Amino acid sequence: MISVRPFHDLFVGEVSGADLTRPQTEAEIAAIEAAIAEHAVLVFRDQRVTDEQQLAFSERFGPLEHTGGTGISKPGEQRLHPAFADVSNLDVDGAVLARDNRRRLYSLGNMLWHSDSSFKAVPAKYSLLSGRVVVEKGGETEFADMRAAYDALDEAAKAEIEDLICEHSLIYSREVLGFGDLTDAERATMRPVRQTLVRTHLVSGRKSVYLASHIGRIVGWPVPEARAFIRDLTEKATRPEFVYRHVWRPFDLVMWDNRCTMHRARRFKSDAVRDMRRTTVAGDAPTVALAAA
Ligand SMILES: [Fe+2]
Repeated sequence: MISVRPFHDLFVGEVSGADLTRPQTEAEIAAIEAAIAEHAVLVFRDQRVTDEQQLAFSERFGPLEHTGGTGISKPGEQRLHPAFADVSNLDVDGAVLARDNRRRLYSLGNMLWHSDSSFKAVPAKYSLLSGRVVVEKGGETEFADMRAAYDALDEAAKAEIEDLICEHSLIYSREVLGFGDLTDAERATMRPVRQTLVRTHLVSGRKSVYLASHIGRIVGWPVPEARAFIRDLTEKATRPEFVYRHVWRPFDLVMWDNRCTMHRARRFKSDAVRDMRRTTVAGDAPTVALAAA
């Protein structure tokens, strides 16, 4: 029997009584969906899942995203099934990537606040991240509650952002880190998409700010003004009272709702092994009628 204990206010729920190595009943899936609509982040401890079990559990929430076609990984370089985002620092042979490895440098974008796949026309619904080998020091994942961030805005600020449309692209978030040596082919896969800045959750009905470091423009605004505005809003939205820091234990599985949270990875030593595997449940629809920028 699944039960969920809220911790960190109502933002995060710790799930007990779940065994994700076996198929879940309809009632169990319904309980998890209800819990994530309320809490936005769910922590499942000690889930020694195989890739197949993680895939099977994830698929219960809808079709999964595949990682092909975005980012910089090439066919043959992928360590995992294409429905996984490889959030490790390992190559196909299981060796730790060199400090100056291009894929490693690109993946450091995960250290910037973001929502998974906000750079896709139909952005992600849930992410499920399994910690197979976790680092002893650092490497935490921080989550920020974008519903609480929205609620904390005053009425004038809410009115100002209500109808704004932002352009998201991996090009913008990598630019922030000085990672600009993208090929024309990579840039072509990273064309900006449009997303609303305010989202209303389909289940909870709560509004949230839809932010990410992938934002580079606000439609109709001068670029420097847009970037300064988004930076300021991001600072407000990630104040400590809205943030939960997850310190990973081996075989934790953390599931979050990308529609109303942001997250970021924290630094760890470049030679430590970190094997994290993410499956991503696709969203239902674009956030705007004309998603192509
Ligand atoms: Fe992420």
